[in-house]
Amino acid sequence: MKRPASVAFALCVLLLLQGCAGWQSALDPKGPAAGELAWLIWFFTALCAVVWVLVMIALAAPLVMRSRPGDEPLLLDEAAERRKMRVVASAVGLTAIILIGLTLLSFFANRTLAAIGSEAVLTIRVTGHQWWWELRYEDATPSRILTTAYEIHIPAGEPVRLLLTSTDVIHSFWIPSLAGKLDLIPGHMNVLDIKADKPGVYRGQCAEFCGAQHANMGTFIIAEPRPKFDAWLNDQLQPAGAPASGEAKAGADLFLKRPCVMCHRIGGTPAGGTVAPDLTHIASRKTLAAGTLTMSRGNLAAWIADPQGIKPGSHMPVADLNGDELNAIVAYLEGLK
Ligand code: CUA
Repeated sequence: MKRPASVAFALCVLLLLQGCAGWQSALDPKGPAAGELAWLIWFFTALCAVVWVLVMIALAAPLVMRSRPGDEPLLLDEAAERRKMRVVASAVGLTAIILIGLTLLSFFANRTLAAIGSEAVLTIRVTGHQWWWELRYEDATPSRILTTAYEIHIPAGEPVRLLLTSTDVIHSFWIPSLAGKLDLIPGHMNVLDIKADKPGVYRGQCAEFCGAQHANMGTFIIAEPRPKFDAWLNDQLQPAGAPASGEAKAGADLFLKRPCVMCHRIGGTPAGGTVAPDLTHIASRKTLAAGTLTMSRGNLAAWIADPQGIKPGSHMPVADLNGDELNAIVAYLEGLK
């Protein structure tokens, strides 16, 4: 190969290998469900590759042999024909055995996946919205039910049950490092059991085209040791803290006077909208707008000032705020840890 061609080839291979690791890869499993699926992917791929190579050899062999001079194509050799029939019959038999074997493997893998959630310690209802994820941590005690958005904290090493549904169109929930994908369907509840073996952050992505901002519908699973998870949950159950500065206080007043309250809820204040993400502890999240922006004062301001420029088609309207008002609201929101 010439040098530019080999460099391009090496780059392509590198690019492909990038998909084999990282915080969003089905080939880099970090939990039992993903481990089972990764094993299946590799086994199916290897077996199918072997079958493909054998089929190609079987196709090429007669072509090579037929090209020998002196062959008489119409002369039938009955013994050779019988041999060929036996070869074809064996190949059909082997194909059937392989297909039945793969079906059985899938069946038993499904049973393993189903067993993960049999002792789930936590149930989280995940509702798909265009284009973000609403999370509701269920609890028998109503005051301990938590509603938050698109960052799913779970205790590491413990099975968690996710109840998946949608309010608008079909979405698909996929955290490749932890589990297979499953659809969120309006009016229907799907169940997905996950477990992260170790603490870590795993990225997920809506995997079903659901409209203009489908690509910006990310989510994160943050697996933490049990004490850290419990502390997080208790923090999140608290109402929003009081504004810490005069500017933040002005922002809080402004927030309650503007249409923000029609869609967003902030616990402990009269803001009780439920059609958009809960903002009670928005500043404790690592991202904004379902993984579109990292959390920072600048990004908060940019998102409020120009949501349609950042996420065109999103249902976040442009707020009519002057510079001082925008700064005040951002000061308030960035204090909501
Ligand atoms: Cu939601 Cu794609």
